[in-house]
Amino acid sequence: MKKYYITTPLYYVNGAPHIGHAYTQVVCDTITRFYRQRARHIFFMTGTDEHGIKIEKASIEAGFDEGKEKDFVDTIIPKFTSLWKRLNIEYDHFIRTTEDYHKKEVQNILQKIYDQGDIYPEVYKGFYCTPCEMFWSDTQAVDGKCPDCGRKVDALNEKNYFFKMSKYKKELVDKIEKDEIQVEPNIRKNEVLGFLNGNELQDLCISRPKTRLKWGIELPFDKDFVSYVWFDALTNYVSGLKHKKGDSFDDHWDNVMHVIGKDIIRHHAIYWTIMLMAIGQKPPQKIFAHGWWMVGKEKMSKSKGNVLDPIYLLDVKKYPVDAIRYFLLSQVEFGYDGSFSEELFIEKYNSDLANDLGNLLNRSLNMVEKYFERIVPSTDIGSDCLNKEAVDLYAELMYSYEHVCMKVDSFLQIDGNKIDFKTALGMLWDPVRRANKFIEVSAPWTCAKENNTKALALIMGTLVQVLGKTAVLLYPFMPETAQKMWEQLGMTNKVCDVNPEEFGALVIPVGTKVQKGEPLFPRLDKIG
Ligand code: ME8
Ligand code: MG
Repeated sequence: MKKYYITTPLYYVNGAPHIGHAYTQVVCDTITRFYRQRARHIFFMTGTDEHGIKIEKASIEAGFDEGKEKDFVDTIIPKFTSLWKRLNIEYDHFIRTTEDYHKKEVQNILQKIYDQGDIYPEVYKGFYCTPCEMFWSDTQAVDGKCPDCGRKVDALNEKNYFFKMSKYKKELVDKIEKDEIQVEPNIRKNEVLGFLNGNELQDLCISRPKTRLKWGIELPFDKDFVSYVWFDALTNYVSGLKHKKGDSFDDHWDNVMHVIGKDIIRHHAIYWTIMLMAIGQKPPQKIFAHGWWMVGKEKMSKSKGNVLDPIYLLDVKKYPVDAIRYFLLSQVEFGYDGSFSEELFIEKYNSDLANDLGNLLNRSLNMVEKYFERIVPSTDIGSDCLNKEAVDLYAELMYSYEHVCMKVDSFLQIDGNKIDFKTALGMLWDPVRRANKFIEVSAPWTCAKENNTKALALIMGTLVQVLGKTAVLLYPFMPETAQKMWEQLGMTNKVCDVNPEEFGALVIPVGTKVQKGEPLFPRLDKIG
């Protein structure tokens, strides 16, 4: 059986994580849960990027003495790990770039590349953007500003070490063009190819002199220098996997997907892929760069300070965690930018979660309680007991799930054609909306008055099965909600253990006793 490997970027620990970081985590968690629920192997790794000038500065600003950066970063890590816990992010390993096994691997790789003659010393004259941790030449840094973030850059004139990236450019272009390295979505592939074809690929400066920066991994071949933070951080994808999955490293590496934001596409699609080529390691199968969460016209960013704090949404506003996961996953097509505002969130919450899903569960269970003393009835009844309009909806609901399962499946595959959570959730919401309509059209309250118990049983049975299948398929996206639905439907096993590939016609056995609970998503008031 194939083994998959999914990674997030390692986030800088210069501040607390925001909605943007939460997004990458939720995306990777959803895919991981999707694989696990289907009994497929996947290894999910995330972590933190802890070296470099930006962190050194943050440490000093936070009042830590020089040399005490590790103490500083130790105070920040819980902000990440506790938020991931609150968001139900089930990673397999959390890697920190300050760990010994990682530092050793970075030094091994540097030494290997140095020994084969791909690293050479030279004076670096140019600029550096600290918030982006990027080197820029004088033609790139126009007016002394960073071309990526627009902030002021610092001028540098110092000896450094360079990595001969130029040597590997042709091979890289070839691999991206042939999709041997899949760069997705397509606009990002074009962006990378456009950059590679339109520019001379400059060799990468991979060092910082200790006179300027001490907080980093020492170069194994020159103790006066530390590694450039990106060379250090990118290596995590190999060092962490080796550390945790040494025996099956190659199997996992064959099916790796790096999930990142589009801000760091070049670092991954160019620097990282070439680093791997230089050490004779296969480049990654897939790099998926998602879009940005924006605040107005600006990217939400730690260093700009315009962030939406997930802890505020969870603990102050008390929004359910799955409502946040749902919003993130359903609001934008995977790969594109989106806006996160509380107004948009409340709007979506009320329409999709309170009105559609929560309402369907609530009213269905109320009726099963009222008409069948909570016992799930059999649907093994001809549908001619229903009115004509209801018969059509009934047929759609009963026979649509094979298709829904297949579709949801196709949008979450690492080696599939297209990953998209928004479309997958849309596929899941379609039967939910139809089921609400089915209730209106079949009018169970009229059937009850007319003593049409056959129709009542068929309607209730159908609703329960729709809810059961929805719960199972919803699990990767909204794990807490799925489990709550499952329990309210009277099931005592764990919904994460129910593999939709083994669905029969009934997921909730006839005779199960439903256990109506609190409404999942009580309506929210508009703000203001
Ligand atoms: O770049 N919208 O770390 P970082 C969507 N340490 N995603 C966002 C986002 C936004 N507004 N803001 C951040 C670094 N992200 C390096 C990475 S990897 C070896 C080293 C997410 O803290 C998104 O995944 O700046 C983005 O790529 C990442 O956080 C950048 O995090
Ligand atoms: Mg950043």
